Amino acid sequence: MNVTVTGAGGQIGYSLLFRIASGDLLGPSTPINLTLLEIPAGRAAAEGTVLELQDCAFPLLWSVTVTEDPVRAFDGVNIALLVGSRPRAVGMERVALLESNGRIFGPAGTALNAGAAADVRVLVVGNPVNTNTLVASAFAPDIPADRFTAMTRLDHNRGIAQLASKLDVHVAALDGLTIWGNHSASQYPDAFHATAGGRPVSELVGQDWLAEEFIPRVANRGYEIIQARGASSAASAASAAIDHIYDWVNGTGERWTSAGVSSDGSYGVPEGLVCSFPVRAVDGRWQIVPDLAINAFSRARIDASVAELIEEREAVQALGLLPALR
Ligand code: NAI
Repeated sequence: MNVTVTGAGGQIGYSLLFRIASGDLLGPSTPINLTLLEIPAGRAAAEGTVLELQDCAFPLLWSVTVTEDPVRAFDGVNIALLVGSRPRAVGMERVALLESNGRIFGPAGTALNAGAAADVRVLVVGNPVNTNTLVASAFAPDIPADRFTAMTRLDHNRGIAQLASKLDVHVAALDGLTIWGNHSASQYPDAFHATAGGRPVSELVGQDWLAEEFIPRVANRGYEIIQARGASSAASAASAAIDHIYDWVNGTGERWTSAGVSSDGSYGVPEGLVCSFPVRAVDGRWQIVPDLAINAFSRARIDASVAELIEEREAVQALGLLPALR
């Protein structure tokens, strides 16, 4: 399998590459050709990481290539992990952030469209992740929109960990949590369908705890990590990316998780918007979990996050970054 990682010289790349090469991404019997896409500023770090990858003598790692050329990076790619992005500088307006990232994710989409393998799966990790995914997909009209996904698995895993801790149960006992909307502070971690060992979580913890502790804790966990570590989440983000692709390829069974996928209009989310939903992976495709009852508490929070996504889409549209909106 050909796996391409962009921004490979960054801190998420430093965790992600070793997990991929050791077999965590695609299982212990799938050899991997790894391609690392960087810009000149990150190239030396990526090349240094390649030296360490060599030193691990991973049996599954057949080749590693570093390039600054997106066309070369995505030629024949089966799994594309788009991590590299332009960070938000101090005082930078949101629209400037959307624009500078659109200038990265548009060309990535074009290069994917030109050369990716027919079964390509794309996971965007770089922020603002939902809208970057929308832009990349818009520039790749020959690739089905459902192959472009945005990572909200880290938020999902954070929510599972918080619930497990609160209820003193194993993380595997939990199911049915959903991250809705944007991967931003407006996201809505919804525990109203969650169960712990089959028992409804909302009855066990109460709505007040969900509203006052759980939702803000999960939504602001990225900030909490920065405060504690002096740097943003990296290993946990890499781990979530591994979980997302592993589940997409291998299926989730009846359990569900969260991912940013192109909306089919479900739950009142405008069609084509890349929004986080409850999803199951079935036969290699993400499916939005249908027919969940949404209470008024949830509806208001989903709508608020979706409104932010609509604003972001309008902003990139105004910048001419959505050539073939679908
Ligand atoms: P970093 O700044 O350590 O690394 C980013 C790397 O991307 C750098 O090496 C840089 O040279 C490279 N890069 C920049 N533009 C590029 C381009 N056009 N093509 C290829 N590479 C390029 O950042 P870090 O910590 O690795 O995070 C990466 C992204 O992931 C950030 O946007 C961050 O906000 C996002 N993130 C997303 C999460 C999620 O849950 N979706 C969680 C954590 C981080």
